[in-house]
Amino acid sequence: MTRYTVLVVGGGGREHAICWKLAQSDHVDRIYLASENPGAEQLGKVESVSLNVKDNKGVAEWCKKNGISLVIVGPEDPLANGLGDALKNVGVPCFGPEQQAAQIETDKNWAKLFMDRHKIPTARWKGFTDANEAKNFVNRSEFPALVVKAAGLAAGKGVVVASDKVEACQAIDEILVQKKFGSAGKVVVVEELLVGEEVSVLAFTDGRKVVPLMPAQDHKRIFNGDEGLNTGGMGAYCPCPLLSHKDAEFVKKNILQTAVDGLKAENIPFIGVLYAGIILTKEGPKVLEFNCRFGDPETQVILPLLKSDLFLAMKACYDGTLTDSHISWHTDVSAVGVILASRGYPETSSKGQVITNVDKISLRHNHFVFHSGTKFSPKGELLTNGGRVLIAVSLAPSLAQAAARATVAAEEISFDGKQFRTDIAHKGIASVCNKTERCLGLHWRFWWTLRY
Ligand code: AMP
Ligand code: GLY
Repeated sequence: MTRYTVLVVGGGGREHAICWKLAQSDHVDRIYLASENPGAEQLGKVESVSLNVKDNKGVAEWCKKNGISLVIVGPEDPLANGLGDALKNVGVPCFGPEQQAAQIETDKNWAKLFMDRHKIPTARWKGFTDANEAKNFVNRSEFPALVVKAAGLAAGKGVVVASDKVEACQAIDEILVQKKFGSAGKVVVVEELLVGEEVSVLAFTDGRKVVPLMPAQDHKRIFNGDEGLNTGGMGAYCPCPLLSHKDAEFVKKNILQTAVDGLKAENIPFIGVLYAGIILTKEGPKVLEFNCRFGDPETQVILPLLKSDLFLAMKACYDGTLTDSHISWHTDVSAVGVILASRGYPETSSKGQVITNVDKISLRHNHFVFHSGTKFSPKGELLTNGGRVLIAVSLAPSLAQAAARATVAAEEISFDGKQFRTDIAHKGIASVCNKTERCLGLHWRFWWTLRY
């Protein structure tokens, strides 16, 4: 059997989960990680390497020199910067699209035009470079409410869901006139507000075929009940029962496959993961956004449910041989992940707090802890090192059990200033549970006490 060496780019919880799953493949001999991640480094096959991922040529040369068979890119920034293109130029296979295809995430104006060209359902919209034109549009708009977005990458902060036209106009001025997001705000997209539950549907693609992963739901707000500021994600669960079979089929055919077909028809190859952020409206599923990569923290709950070999699926995407048989699932369990964030997050973060009990939780059956922002002190203590610090993931036969266990795990891991939500998966639980289980499920600690 040929055994391969891979490079994973990125160093957060998503990349830890990718390394964890890749390490289980008999086909993978060695995993280099282009960043430090104390959790991933404890996996046998993983070695951190100090690479400047902004230096595309340098990374490409390093890959050639080190016999890398596949580069897997976690975050969007390196793809936006053309890492995929640089690797292609030297013949190093990459799981992740080239710059032009990455525009589906990195340029919301481009993505909306693309969706309109291919009749992919999305919110009605218009793009502007002139603030007065944009404000005139808002003031004359018949849309009941408006969302204003910086078209470029703005670290998840470039979207304002405006409560009225005045707020929408303020957001336009901030983006186009005050240049709050620099060149990411050269264009604003103004769109109608859509109402419904949000679901993340990711799919592998080799540029022709699309194989969706199990649907997940992220929790973007900092506090329980979806209150407070937007974050990078405070937890996720998978599978998400809010997406019906019928809607899942619709998303696969009319959104994901249509997008990949559209890219192909426009001579834009897309290899990797296409992530559709979907809102389930009364008129059916519509696209809020596309991403050109795995979601974080969705990946941390999707990959533990993947039964088949992750490396072989990724290789098939690159080779153009992807089939449904590359993906199979553990169908008898649900996964819930609770993010532990540091004091001040999402506005600031605190570093250097000692973290305890991670090993205790990792040893527990069907529990995983993926590291997002941690580091070891010179004395070997695990310390916080960022806004989102860890994710505690639990697998259990029911969503309510998985949520209870993940929440208890998040409670047991300790560091000064820890913040976490205690209601991850509540919407999914409410949609599937019978009355009794729902009642127990909403009281995590009580439910957990009954189980152990
Ligand atoms: P985006 O980066 O475009 O996905 O936007 C970030 C978040 O803003 C989404 O996850 C939604 O919660 C919200 N959002 C964006 N666009 C809309 C919309 N048209 N209607 C309702 N909510 C939206
Ligand atoms: N979980 C949202 C994202 O990865 O963009």
